[in-house]
Amino acid sequence: MEKQKKLYLGTNTKMYKTIAQTQKFLTRLREETEDISREKLELFVIPSYTALYHARQCVQPHEIRLGAQNMGWEDTGQFSGEISPLMIRETGADLVMIGHSERRHVLLETDEMERKKVACALRHNLTPLLCVGETEEEKRLGLSDERLRTQLKAGLYGLAPEEAAKLWIAYEPVWAIGVGGTPASKEYAEEKHGVIRRCVEELFGKETGRKIPLLYGGSVHGENAPELIQRENIDGLFIGRAAWQAESFASIIRTVLPLWIRR
Ligand code: PGA
Repeated sequence: MEKQKKLYLGTNTKMYKTIAQTQKFLTRLREETEDISREKLELFVIPSYTALYHARQCVQPHEIRLGAQNMGWEDTGQFSGEISPLMIRETGADLVMIGHSERRHVLLETDEMERKKVACALRHNLTPLLCVGETEEEKRLGLSDERLRTQLKAGLYGLAPEEAAKLWIAYEPVWAIGVGGTPASKEYAEEKHGVIRRCVEELFGKETGRKIPLLYGGSVHGENAPELIQRENIDGLFIGRAAWQAESFASIIRTVLPLWIRR
């Protein structure tokens, strides 16, 4: 059967790459992947705010989509230090990550803040990539599903199905992310993607819920990427450290894309 969806593969470079490093990375990634058809592949990179405009000069949107790592929820106003959706659009980016674990747990963002950001992004025609995931403690207490459902129901509250259809969601368990993180097993990741899928179907109807791309993130690397991508509810991978060298990222793309197409 012909697949409707694309495979979503992307990286967030966190607070690591300068403007020059981002340009070098993107130029290399474009060269490394230029022979790979984008028909079934949605490739995206989320650099730092300061690099976004320069990043757009290096690559075309049809080659690599660019996103911001965060966003304020007002268009303009007395919000020193925030970046508005208008400013993100001005850089040429059309994607915005919302509620990454580091924003929620280090910078203490709440579900209500994420909700306002998601709604604001949609108003400005930016694709929101909402990140959700339980902590180690919540997992230990058997509260993972409740936590995911709360983050989704609160973060997506009030959206119409046609708005929700534009969303991307990343499942990133907090305990799996970054140095010292343990990647979720393919079984565990698929189970939680199932919880997320059922929740968005319940909120927005089966047809819309089925279409929303669900990406897994948290210590993805060359070895576990192939098994993760073959699970039914995993539509893509959101990769950190293992994708920050263009060659390693391209090698993951080359390995998983054919597997996903055959899935
Ligand atoms: P990691 O990062 O792949 O380095 O664990 C994932 C993320 O923070 O999105």
